Amino acid sequence: MSSYDVIIIGSGPGGYVCAIRCAQLGLKTAIVEGRETLGGTCLNVGCIPSKALLHASHMLHEAQHNFAAMGLKGKTQSVDWKQMLSYKDDVIGQNTKGVEFLMKKNKVDWLKGWGSIPAAGQVKVGDEVHEAKNIIIASGSEVSSLPGVEIDEKTVVSSTGALEMKKIPNKLVVIGAGVIGLELGSVYSRLGSEVTVVEFLDAVTPGMDGEVQRQFQKMLTKQGINFVMGAAVQGVKSKGGKATVTYKLRKDDSEATIDADTVLVATGRRPYVDGLGLEALGVERSERGQIKTDGNYATNVAGIYAIGDCIDGPMLAHKAEDEGMACAEGLAGQKPHVNYGVIPGVIYTHPEVANVGKTEEQLKDEGVDYKVGKFSFMGNGRAKANFAGDGFVKLLADKATDRILGAHIIGPMAGDLIHEVCVAMEFGAAAEDLARTCHAHPTYSEAVREAALACGDGAIHA
Ligand code: FAD
Ligand code: NAI
Repeated sequence: MSSYDVIIIGSGPGGYVCAIRCAQLGLKTAIVEGRETLGGTCLNVGCIPSKALLHASHMLHEAQHNFAAMGLKGKTQSVDWKQMLSYKDDVIGQNTKGVEFLMKKNKVDWLKGWGSIPAAGQVKVGDEVHEAKNIIIASGSEVSSLPGVEIDEKTVVSSTGALEMKKIPNKLVVIGAGVIGLELGSVYSRLGSEVTVVEFLDAVTPGMDGEVQRQFQKMLTKQGINFVMGAAVQGVKSKGGKATVTYKLRKDDSEATIDADTVLVATGRRPYVDGLGLEALGVERSERGQIKTDGNYATNVAGIYAIGDCIDGPMLAHKAEDEGMACAEGLAGQKPHVNYGVIPGVIYTHPEVANVGKTEEQLKDEGVDYKVGKFSFMGNGRAKANFAGDGFVKLLADKATDRILGAHIIGPMAGDLIHEVCVAMEFGAAAEDLARTCHAHPTYSEAVREAALACGDGAIHA
């Protein structure tokens, strides 16, 4: 039996970042991971592999659609799917090994196996019980399917199966126009699949700014992705490597079916806490299965904390990381703070979509008097040169104080551009602060400045 200041269960972005911070703050730390490799959902079957396939398929799209216009001619690119998967696996390997290196460097012990908590202060891994003054649960999330839909990871796949399909399907039906559905739908659409997305709601990517939702769906439609909106999937039948999806249109209750070679179920994720023994310990959970925590990530059981996808809040790697750091700092006696009002969200399609803070819909609901500064990438020289003029930056600011309340970007490098707004918001900046900051020319970030200018006397290049 060994004894630690902290044992963290789960090595995703929440867990491993928390472990590093604990070690940096002088706490004797171990991390428990049941997978073969560290890094959790994000590095193994989530953020990283999906971005590798998005990158590769985007390169193909550029070669097929934009190279000739720039005078780049020659052999047409074709897809070696096996090689693309092996590139993706290499990327995963580099990242998961990187986390293993960081654990060693920071002297964090990796307790290999699935952990459970027989009692507060104890973590059992295999036959061994380890002692810990503090236990942090960072066990993440798992795919949440629909009634009547059985995932076999061959014909009916989750995101995990979609990252390692045997071949590129001719017809792919995606259930759910959320982040996973649209990112992975884009990948296969670019690789030549006929992609149809069936979505329950009337807009894509729930919770996003309405104007962005509409523009985003339009752009994806232009790229060749089909949408069936307002359609509740009732079930999927699969036989002999083919599947039929049945859905009901909400507007008139009419039922229809659609055939597919592969069906991707992307209807959300739920907290994963199996086997931890939470019921016996009396750890409280919400109706949605999330572990309940207070402002310091403490559960109702003394000495047990929880962070990341298994607690409330957006299921995002960077949110889990921030909670991991804050939880560690709290244990070390500091007074950390995560600002949940400034957590960016990014969709890594092409163009990218990024948001932070409030949407227009939220501000209206809250009765806030706001102003909008909008700038189209068509007015940005760099974007035009790079075939990236579609999209816009929209900045929302308080009408009376000019304080920035939110930003919504659809366009090139939106996922990077959003961060200058995040920093500005953290400092309580006004739109004028961004507008008066010199931005290098020619960069995409000039579009952010122009949107800020549009909140005041007006954009220059509009
Ligand atoms: P996880 O990453 O889920 O890690 C939990 C780990 O705990 C797992 O490795 C699991 O094996 C381990 N574990 C669980 N129980 C036990 C136990 N009892 N004993 C031992 N080990 C245990 N987010 C983004 O911000 N950006 C993206 O681009 C993005 N892309 C995504 C793409 C896909 C396809 C998916 C599925 C998700 C994506 N996400 C993305 C979400 C992101 O992956 C999660 O928000 C993030 O991984 C959550 O981190 P976590 O540390 O809470 O849990
Ligand atoms: P999601 O919650 O984003 O989207 C699920 C979609 O499925 C919703 O639009 C919902 O209305 C729809 N849906 C639900 N039931 C349905 C039914 N019966 N018929 C038709 N449509 C139905 O979930 P998703 O895409 O599975 O992603 C899970 C999590 O992973 C998200 O919380 C996200 O934060 C995270 N993620 C983040 C990424 C990023 O940051 N770039 C990338 C991928 C995942």
